Amino acid sequence: MARLRIKDILKTTPTEQTIIVKGWVRTFRNNSFIALNDGSTNNNLQIVVDFNKTPEDILKRITTGAAISITGILVASLGKGQSVEVKASSIEIIGDSDAEKYPLQPKKHSLEFLREIAHLRFRTNTFGAVFRVRNTLSFAIHQFFNEKGFLNLHSPIITSSDAEGAGEMFHVTNFDISNPPKDENGQIDYKHDFFGKPANLTVSGQLEGELAALAFSDIYTFGPTFRAENSNTTRHLAEFWMIEPEMAFSDLNDNMNLAEEMLQYVINYALKTSHDDIEFLNQRLLEEEKQKPQNERSEFSLIEKLNFCLENNFERITYSQAFDILRECNYNKKKKFNYLIDKWGVDLQSEHERYLVEKHFKKPVILIDYPKEIKSFYMRQNDDGKTVAAMDILFPGIGEIVGGSQREERLEKLETRMDELGIPKDELYWYLDTRRFGSCPHAGFGLGFERLVLFVTGMTNIRDVIPFPRTPKNCEF
Ligand code: 4AD
Ligand code: MG
Repeated sequence: MARLRIKDILKTTPTEQTIIVKGWVRTFRNNSFIALNDGSTNNNLQIVVDFNKTPEDILKRITTGAAISITGILVASLGKGQSVEVKASSIEIIGDSDAEKYPLQPKKHSLEFLREIAHLRFRTNTFGAVFRVRNTLSFAIHQFFNEKGFLNLHSPIITSSDAEGAGEMFHVTNFDISNPPKDENGQIDYKHDFFGKPANLTVSGQLEGELAALAFSDIYTFGPTFRAENSNTTRHLAEFWMIEPEMAFSDLNDNMNLAEEMLQYVINYALKTSHDDIEFLNQRLLEEEKQKPQNERSEFSLIEKLNFCLENNFERITYSQAFDILRECNYNKKKKFNYLIDKWGVDLQSEHERYLVEKHFKKPVILIDYPKEIKSFYMRQNDDGKTVAAMDILFPGIGEIVGGSQREERLEKLETRMDELGIPKDELYWYLDTRRFGSCPHAGFGLGFERLVLFVTGMTNIRDVIPFPRTPKNCEF
């Protein structure tokens, strides 16, 4: 007989059929009731043990965390909280768990503590829900692009280019770093390194994505990206996953439309498909909010917030409009921002982004036409000579969730900008070739996957939505 998953068992009509179920013990009460979980759902299956018929040494080994196999009869449950339960006819202990030493006790642990035992936190309700929702969102993204006819491109993880030109790269070498070969000038001689030149982990698959878009029309990447930026915040990881679509024959408007449609599609998909888990996370957040003073509580519950995003169009404004709103707002006048908004051209900090989204518009905002000085070299220059066709999407509680642009498809303009910024044209000859041979207007964006998972799960720290977070001074597991 095949083992059944708890998610399916809980949906089955009980007719006293014999089933096999395997999982990990969450709790064992009164030597009679096991709450069993196998990760297929947040809901536990209740196993009823007849302790008179069960050997003492087996009863003792049914401890929190133990892996067990149950053969039993599925019956309707008379108890509260579940519709079916299993009357155990035989119990096998597959893997013991010493209750004294097991770090997860059947009680509420803090997220900080669970982060230290990230190898076990999958076994908690909260992280079970978070990582199932993460899985649902990942699937939804592939499905969305697949339905739209986008080609999934696997861009390289090791590259020799710095796509964003921000110099936040992790270097890849197989030199003995205590004694690398030097050239006659005393500089490290990369000719002898593995790739024969300096290499690094990718910060973005965009440049390679553009090459493919100029052949397949519509592509997307979905892979890990790496940034050696020393940002110890609840929104930054050194290793994060990014989704980067790129569309040929498209402009900034098409780009905004695609991003908005994608975000609404995947949020809607998650609400439908991961309903139980999101409901659990919704409750969790309500409990958490109760601990806060009234004025710090959010107006919306998690589910209300998600529905709100589906029911309302995102606000679309230019950087200059946002700048005016921010400069004139009371927060700025009363110097409540850490960075005051005074001169046109300043980069917006997350406090400003969140003001626009949470206080001013109270909905997601797409900001476009940023000053060219604060954006990357590849963004298309607008006719005003000051701004580029960039777009950032700002979400409540998150700030920037998407960054993208229409790309500079005009060779001469692109080369001039690269010269101004000191970006070596010879190293990026392959990128420039797309502008030499069959160039066309094209656009794309990058969605930070963990920021999306943060938003949909209502978690507040990005370290809690990726299985094993990599952050400054932390590379455990
Ligand atoms: O704005 P970014 O740097 O844009 C790019 O990398 C472009 N090449 C994307 C493109 O146009 N194809 O990053 C895109 C998104 C951000 O909006 C943010 O959501 C996320 O990636 N992101 C991070 N997420 C977690 N930790 C970090 N350190 C992140 N840096 C960026
Ligand atoms: Mg950005």
